[in-house]
Amino acid sequence: MTPEDTPILASAQAPGKVILLGEHSVVYGRAAIAVPVRSVFARAVVRPATDKLVICSRLEAGLGTTWTIRVDGESSQEPLAVAAQAVLGWLGWDRPPRWLVEVSSTIPLARGLGSSAAAAVALVRAMAQAAGRELSAAEASELAYQAEQQAHGTPSGIDNTVVAWDRPVHFAAGQARELPLGAPLPLVIADSGRRAPTRDLVAAVRERWSGNRRQIEAIFDDIQALVDRAEIALSQGNLGQLGSCMTENQACLRQLGVSDERLDALVESALTAGAWGAKLSGAGGGGVVIALVPLADGPRIAEALRAAGARDTIQTVVET
Ligand code: PMV
Repeated sequence: MTPEDTPILASAQAPGKVILLGEHSVVYGRAAIAVPVRSVFARAVVRPATDKLVICSRLEAGLGTTWTIRVDGESSQEPLAVAAQAVLGWLGWDRPPRWLVEVSSTIPLARGLGSSAAAAVALVRAMAQAAGRELSAAEASELAYQAEQQAHGTPSGIDNTVVAWDRPVHFAAGQARELPLGAPLPLVIADSGRRAPTRDLVAAVRERWSGNRRQIEAIFDDIQALVDRAEIALSQGNLGQLGSCMTENQACLRQLGVSDERLDALVESALTAGAWGAKLSGAGGGGVVIALVPLADGPRIAEALRAAGARDTIQTVVET
């Protein structure tokens, strides 16, 4: 019998995400704003298994990167195994159940789109559901955070929060609150095709900060001021103002050293094609550029981004 023939005990999904403003400075206690991106998502399915708890992860669409993790005492350090163990602790189970948990995803990996957080949130939700227990968004976020720590070292916690809440969030110093949107946000997300290793980029910023705290703290303060302005613009549905904040945030990220010529070129192409604002999103050094766009201009701006070197584009609207 193949896994596909066995019954499904539970299944759950979690969306991707982008950070609108505040990446990196959020690691230093400043505020950031992130929104869910539902057009890409991770999914976890739980089926009965004859063996112990086994996790099969197929995170990159089209690539045969399936691997198996047995959570059977000899604890695996794979982030998803860490998340699974966190769920078992939350359930109060000292013996793993006989489950096969399959995790798949349409979210490009390591692009700042929250692929690791979404996979972890989908997994913890599906496992809780298979155990017949309700998991609140806050609990799902907390359990997934343990996988994020394993994957990234010192994550701020913004990714697991926005993905678990599936709502726009304001996040600062570990505290999150939901952000009301005054208008839907049409976004074009341009994939540079290059991986953005969060751990390395966070470490690079840390090194610069250690070498010149005054200057780097001043940049973080500038970003905080932009987040404050952006929050007001978001609540008023003022996309022009929000876009300006995003573009100014990109200038700060350039000063921090996490942008590069190719990302700058994508930002410029979106602005020239009529975006309200554009910036890299996530750790930088690759990953994605996001552009806030007038809805009708989305296809044209996406085309401009592809002409400027984006491997792929995603058009999405973050609903109020
Ligand atoms: O994992 P990414 O690419 O979404 O980056 C997260 C944003 C950072 O602020 C750079 C790191 C963090 O933990 O908040």
